[in-house]
Amino acid sequence: LQPGIELVRDAPVSLQAQLVSRLRELILSGGLAPGTRMLASRELSRQLGISRNTVVLSYDRLIAEGYLEAHGPAGTFVTSSLPESSMGIGTSDRQAVAIDRSRPSTRPLSRRFAAPILHERPKERIPFDFRIGRPDARSFPLKRWRRLLDEKLAKAGKALTEYGNPAGLYELRKALVDHLREARGIEADPEQVIVVGGCEEGLNVVARMLCPSDTRVYVETPCYQGVAFVFASYGAAVKPVPIDDEGLCLDGLPDKGVGLVCVTPSHQFPIGVTMSLNRRLRLLDWARRNGAYVVEDDYDSDFRYTGSPLMALAALDREGCVIYLGTFSKSIGAGLRIGYLVVPPELIGPARETKALINLGNPWLEQAVLAEFIASGSFAQHLRRVRKTYLQRRDALISNLRDNFGDVELLGEEGGMHLTWMLPERGPSARVVQNECLSRDVGVYTIDDGPAFDFGKYRRRDQALFLGYPCLNEDEIGVAIRRLAEQVPSPNLA
Ligand SMILES: Cc1ncc(COP(=O)(O)O)c(C=O)c1O
Repeated sequence: LQPGIELVRDAPVSLQAQLVSRLRELILSGGLAPGTRMLASRELSRQLGISRNTVVLSYDRLIAEGYLEAHGPAGTFVTSSLPESSMGIGTSDRQAVAIDRSRPSTRPLSRRFAAPILHERPKERIPFDFRIGRPDARSFPLKRWRRLLDEKLAKAGKALTEYGNPAGLYELRKALVDHLREARGIEADPEQVIVVGGCEEGLNVVARMLCPSDTRVYVETPCYQGVAFVFASYGAAVKPVPIDDEGLCLDGLPDKGVGLVCVTPSHQFPIGVTMSLNRRLRLLDWARRNGAYVVEDDYDSDFRYTGSPLMALAALDREGCVIYLGTFSKSIGAGLRIGYLVVPPELIGPARETKALINLGNPWLEQAVLAEFIASGSFAQHLRRVRKTYLQRRDALISNLRDNFGDVELLGEEGGMHLTWMLPERGPSARVVQNECLSRDVGVYTIDDGPAFDFGKYRRRDQALFLGYPCLNEDEIGVAIRRLAEQVPSPNLA
């Protein structure tokens, strides 16, 4: 009997596939040494109780793959020229072969940046979840999206079989600059736009393009995890800079040797303050004087409820020192994985090359659909609709908090999709309130839950409780906050 062959009859894998894989394993492990004569197909089929044809086809397959050789009437043999050293054949009676077990090591992230970056779904759904950073799945423009998908597919021509421009589909880049002019006051040429797989890829493009090891990158504290971790992963020295109620504190920036400063001026992530105009102008002036680039992450600027949005840094920039980062993760959905960079003219070439090196460009179909979605006015209409819904939910959250807890300190409620409730210094910490809430099926978030990161340094870290409101309707918000008030009575918090 050919040793070690056991076939399972009612397995989902065919007998032939099992036999091929078993014989392959035996040959590679040295159980069947090079030059061994295989049993005749008739004999093996008899011993295994399978059809001869199955054995013949299996041998044919292994001959085609180079494991076996047919020597005419002499029979079928294990290929004699297979290298014994790679076939698990013992070396004890031969000269021992030195085996180098070292492999290229993975680029280590320092311990400081080793917190989990993956935004995994929680194992169990929390019934009243104020999770931050997620749009309401029910408001995804499904009908229109499906129609556009059909239309674009019907007219795709070679678009799905050819490579496109790595910077992105021209129609989308054109639609984006038109949208940015209108919505954010940014004057850019479609050439300056690089379509990327969300802000996360945008940050990777910037880091890869501009950050040789040890480049100093200054980030807000607290900041978006992604920004700190991506730059750190490229070997940059990531430095925390405090924020106050006008945004990034410029006194925290040195005068020399800074490569990049990364900010979220519209709605500081995660605290929510808006960078004042004064601070914006001073930051640009600082960048111009010190030869640094400013990365402006405008992740949720589509939602502004009170006052008019301040002009984007990229709109105020006259010197070409702002790299603007936009995303559709908040306005439409993170599953699309579409964002974009608007780079100063001098970086167009390097940014395109970098993007090409990463993946030669984003998928065509989603770009084509999104381009039409924006150019046809559907995006603006969608934004008007969701803005209205989120505004109602935000208002419901604020009034429920005030009704139940009195004069609460809220930050970041003018825009975006979440707000920060600064708990009183002397009351229970954000972590304690979070745990109390969880016991009543209400999810609220602290600075340690991601995707925020503060180097352990944010002065008010124990007080900051984050509540995202797009995914709960007004009734649900009312129930959730009442539960919270029952669990953590107001005297402790007000
Ligand atoms: C500050 C900030 N920037 C960017 C993003 C989103 O990145 P992406 O476009 O890769 O989904 C998030 C998501 O949570 C964020 O909080």
